[in-house]
Amino acid sequence: MDTRKKIRPFTFKVDFQNGKISNPDTHIVRKLSSMKGQYSDEKSFNEMLDKKDCILYEVYEKLVPEIEGELLQGMSIVHPGKVGKEYFMTKGHFHSILDTAELYYCVKGHGYMVMENPEGDWSVEELIPNIVLYVPGRWAHRSININNTEDLVTIFTYPANAGHDYASIETKGFRKLVVDNNGTPEIIDNPGWK
Ligand SMILES: [Fe+2]
Repeated sequence: MDTRKKIRPFTFKVDFQNGKISNPDTHIVRKLSSMKGQYSDEKSFNEMLDKKDCILYEVYEKLVPEIEGELLQGMSIVHPGKVGKEYFMTKGHFHSILDTAELYYCVKGHGYMVMENPEGDWSVEELIPNIVLYVPGRWAHRSININNTEDLVTIFTYPANAGHDYASIETKGFRKLVVDNNGTPEIIDNPGWK
């Protein structure tokens, strides 16, 4: 059956102050325990986890048929905090269909998007309210909240059939890390990058 027939035009409302969208179809909650091996300071990671399995980030999505031609959209909220010198961040991923892009619109907070492609190129772009970031196809992406007190809130949209490849980043990490150097974010080489 053509699933395209099932979907009709729709709108949704963005509440960027409270980090919510209206009537989301999914609400993904990522806790510290799901980021094992992603932070370079394992001692700090384990000490934090022993105290509390806190929430690092949340994602709300409006679902559409996961077929070529449709666009899936939602909101990402990265909470403030650090593990050692690294900021709270998303898992980061390539798209399973590598040649698919994504658009991010920052509505609240202050952060960075760390990106790299399999060809060896990398990029780090600043996210502040009203900045639109285009992530081309082939570029893995991870958002990082560098603000101590405020959520980093972005709206995203990407091809609905793109899929997520988390495993590549879980295995080898990103080439670059953003760390807190006495109150200033600093981009450094990832010593654990494989
Ligand atoms: Fe993505």
